[in-house]
Amino acid sequence: MTSLISSPSAPAAPAAPAAPAEAITPLVRGVVVLRTLTEAGGTLSLRDLSHATGLARSTVDRIAATLAHMGYVRLDGRDVTVLPGVMELGNAYLDATHIPEVLGPHVRELADQLDESVSLTVPDGTGLRMIHQVKHRRARIFSFGIGDLLPVERAAPGALMAADWSPETWAEWHAGPALPTIHEFPAGPPGGDPRALFSPDVCTEAAQRGWAEDDQRIAGGLLALGVAVRDPGGRRVCGVSVVSHTSRHTMASLRDAALPGLQRTVARMEDALRRIPVPTSEPPVGTATWTGTSKQVIGREFVESLARGLAAITAFGSGHESLSTTGVADATGLPRATARRVLITLEHLGYVVAEDRRYRLTPRVLELGFPPMSRTSLAQLTEPHIGALAARVQDSASMAVLEGSDIRYTARVPAYRVMSVNITVGTRFPSYATSMGRVLLAGLPSAERRDVLDGVGPLERLTGRTITDRGRLEELLDQVAEQGYALNEGELDEGLRSIAVPVHDRDRRVVAAVNVAMHTSRRTPEECTTDLLPHLRATAARIETEYATATRFVKIPVI
Ligand code: PHB
Repeated sequence: MTSLISSPSAPAAPAAPAAPAEAITPLVRGVVVLRTLTEAGGTLSLRDLSHATGLARSTVDRIAATLAHMGYVRLDGRDVTVLPGVMELGNAYLDATHIPEVLGPHVRELADQLDESVSLTVPDGTGLRMIHQVKHRRARIFSFGIGDLLPVERAAPGALMAADWSPETWAEWHAGPALPTIHEFPAGPPGGDPRALFSPDVCTEAAQRGWAEDDQRIAGGLLALGVAVRDPGGRRVCGVSVVSHTSRHTMASLRDAALPGLQRTVARMEDALRRIPVPTSEPPVGTATWTGTSKQVIGREFVESLARGLAAITAFGSGHESLSTTGVADATGLPRATARRVLITLEHLGYVVAEDRRYRLTPRVLELGFPPMSRTSLAQLTEPHIGALAARVQDSASMAVLEGSDIRYTARVPAYRVMSVNITVGTRFPSYATSMGRVLLAGLPSAERRDVLDGVGPLERLTGRTITDRGRLEELLDQVAEQGYALNEGELDEGLRSIAVPVHDRDRRVVAAVNVAMHTSRRTPEECTTDLLPHLRATAARIETEYATATRFVKIPVI
């Protein structure tokens, strides 16, 4: 999906300091490739990647092949596209920091109470990184996603977070480029040029007042009110923003309506941060996700030092906010000396910080593929999987969700064969007479299933084979739930046969179905179960794995 951020690629960073002698070059280069892909919105051709990174084409090819083996990108002809798998890097930070886990429920409560969007941002260099949001149901067209970097001089909590800046950080901000923002008024924000107005005095004043505002500095029409959350040591670690719109509020009326609730919430958040248990143990051996796979297994295109360096990032998380070099070595299976070099490289890149001989991930890890993936949908991430399935079985493959008592197609890859029905994304059919509908109905809790079927009323006979007896249908649905697939024998259309399996979310709820559909002359029902079912199940499992990674900390819509 294309990014709504006005500048598609972030402006060039100031000249980076030279890498230390121990830095692992392939890891540095791999990170540059992932960052460049992210800035481009998720996809670039190998040629453009080589161009944008200044790396040789053969180097880019090997890095892309390695990232593809890790499930972080997909190679589609000459194009490289990030995949939800890459989100495990950002997930490690979000898991390790505890902020979404501990403060998330408070964000939800405040958003419900105020009936507005609420988000969390953390300081990252001289910007603010978006790490959590509860969006208002009146969807805003313009919005930052999780992992995006907001310009500190424009975002509501910016003045509060910068109140702690050292003169060196102010110098860095002055020397750095203006971060991209969402489309603003052509003439700029009503208050004037945010960069010209931002200063230590403004920040000190905001910090003394305890709140700060964004009056359409991020986007025309967008209003935000920010308050900072302090950790038990008194450091401002996170900004909470209540985000509204000029169609609902003026800046003053938003402050009147939201500030008291926001301040009460922040007090509760600070209390919750004081109660986070301090982790003591190192992670068990081999907890990082990429261990033990080597060049011998995958081939000479595989850049092992890149894979292992990225694996070190996934060693953090699940109670391991900080790790020693030995902890990273144990979790990744790397020799201690290599783990040390990996950590030195990651520190140079700004992805870990060292404190008391222990390392901690920084929110900058989120720049590795997270923002474009946080804007994906289940339908979008499904597309390549059902494309591969359709190519493999030489028949049409689709995904559908339940909408009322109908199914609605959310993704479809047709086979190049004349079909008796014309189906596109958005097509609706009655759920009771389709394989995907049966899988979706079978996955509902019984009371919900009953309500949906009650809503359908008498089951209309669509062909001579349609099951129109409610009792018989319910028996069949129980059987589908039991066996984990549904077959449709010409019940929607005489000449059409299909087989469907469910797709589950992280909580094992059925959220969608995938099927293969064909003319009845193509395969017998038995051949459907012997030849197609294993492929369908493997496809659903791959989709579920990606969806689970993507939805660990981000709400990803089905469509
Ligand atoms: C947002 O959460 O989208 C947001 C946060 C702070 C702002 C503007 C927007 O100042």
